[in-house]
Amino acid sequence: MIYATMRSIASYIPQRCVSNFDLEKLVDTSDEWITKRTGIKTRYFASENEASSDLATKAGEIALKRAGLEPSDIDLVIVATLSPDYVGMPSTACITSYNLGIENKPAFDITTACTGFIYLLSIAKAYIQAGMYQNILIIGAEKISSLLDFTDRSTCVLFGDGAGAAVISATQDPNEAILDVHISANGRYNDFLMTPGCGSRNPANQHIIDSNLQFIQMKGNETFKLAVKTLAQDVEHILQHNAIHPSEIKFFIPHQANLRIISAVGEMLDFQKDQVVVTVDRFGNTSAASIPMAINSIYEENKLHKGDLILLDAFGGGLTWGSALLRFGGNPL
Ligand code: UT7
Repeated sequence: MIYATMRSIASYIPQRCVSNFDLEKLVDTSDEWITKRTGIKTRYFASENEASSDLATKAGEIALKRAGLEPSDIDLVIVATLSPDYVGMPSTACITSYNLGIENKPAFDITTACTGFIYLLSIAKAYIQAGMYQNILIIGAEKISSLLDFTDRSTCVLFGDGAGAAVISATQDPNEAILDVHISANGRYNDFLMTPGCGSRNPANQHIIDSNLQFIQMKGNETFKLAVKTLAQDVEHILQHNAIHPSEIKFFIPHQANLRIISAVGEMLDFQKDQVVVTVDRFGNTSAASIPMAINSIYEENKLHKGDLILLDAFGGGLTWGSALLRFGGNPL
């Protein structure tokens, strides 16, 4: 039997750290409000000359090295991003592959917002279990600061930039397998989170730009309520489906949008505090990069070991959501 395993994990965090106090100077907000409503204290922004593919390349390089693979060993590269280098083409995955020295291999992007990494796992698992590929590089990479309206305090304080990458490889060993991945979507709520301008619906023109419609808009409160409900149901479902009790999970690693969402879902599902991984305080919401960055943080702290059972869970624009259960397959640092 062929299984898929997460052979390595890595991340790249841009240099520039932006605190809530820095944002107080830009918009009518306060460290107190941001901390109380979101749990965020800092986030990192890429520099002007860095694009999402640059962040993806740096995370991808480390993921390849940690998997002990050469660029020529990679059969496919997929990038999840809502902040691609270019609106239409070329894909961020094509640029990232080239930067990494991976040529003449398939590469494509997916757009599933904050659920990006769960969708990537689902695609990579399916390709590997179908016997088509041996090693797939998956990357969540975001320069969300390029999509932020710094006159809108309700969104610009929430997000950060970064990239997280993993090599997903074929294995015969069930003790390091990706056990199950659930993904779903409902376009009924497509206007909860969106970048309304500069696509084919509202092509770029002066009015679009003057109205800041190229930036992220969010119905925060509605999204919050639906996120808590959907995430809790989704996690319950994947645990039941695999006959696993929350106490058997070493780490619950949810998408990092808001500490209040993470705490509410964690409590509803009876996870202990030390099972729940939180990085939103340091990185803010890095969308498709948030889950791999969070996995990488416990890996680099030497808390995550080969065979550990982890549960991932995400919710984002579309709306999309999903969860994954897996035994980590990476070697120690
Ligand atoms: O990653 C994809 C999924 N995303 C999410 O899951 C995000 C879900 N939503 C949230 O995390 C929260 O809804 C937010 C953090 C976005 C907002 O928190 P909230 O507790 O839902 O606040 P609210 O939108 O209901 O606004 C409460 C008040 C409003 O003032 P009034 O009308 O009560 O006077 C806002 O104008 O807070 C005000 N406000 C702010 N005040 C200071 C909104 N943003 C800010 C701000 N600083 N940055």
